[in-house]
Amino acid sequence: MSKTIYMINGPNLNLLGTREPEIYGYETLNDIASNCRKIGDHHDLTVDFRQSNHEGEIVDWIQEAIEHAEAIIINAAAYTHTSVAIHDALRSFDGYVVELHISNPHLRESFRHTSYVSTAANAIVAGLGTMGYELVIPLVSEILATA
Ligand code: DQA
Repeated sequence: MSKTIYMINGPNLNLLGTREPEIYGYETLNDIASNCRKIGDHHDLTVDFRQSNHEGEIVDWIQEAIEHAEAIIINAAAYTHTSVAIHDALRSFDGYVVELHISNPHLRESFRHTSYVSTAANAIVAGLGTMGYELVIPLVSEILATA
C-alpha cells in the first residue's frame, strides 16, 4: 500500500499566482497541487494537498495525520511565526516533518526570522520558490523508504 504525505498550506497561500508575485511567483496553488500529486504517483506516494486560512483547522489536519500519514510537509505561512498550537500539534506527530517556505524568511523582515515550526521539524526547505514543493517529494520518498 502506498504511503501518504500531507502537504499542508496556511493562510493566504490560496492567493498564490496573484499575491506578491515578485516574491512568490506566478504558479497557483492548484498548479502546485496537481504537480505534487503527479510526482507523488511517480514515487508511489499519496499526496494529500490542503490549504486553510484557519489555525484550528490546520491543527485538526495535523492531528488527523497522526492516524493517516507517514510525513507532513507544511508551509504554515504567517502562522509559522506565531503559532504555538501548530508547533504543539506537530510535536505530537511521530512521522517525518518538513517545514517549507517559498521565500527565504531569513532574508526578509525580522518578524519572519522566528519560526515555531522549525523546532518541531526534521528538515527545512526555504527560498527555492514554488519548485521547493516539487523537489522535496522525492527526498521525503527516499527518507520514508529507508526509515
Ligand atoms: C511563507 C513565508 C511567510 O513569512 C509568509 O507569511 C507566507 C509565506 C513562504 O512560503 O515564503 O505567507 O511561508
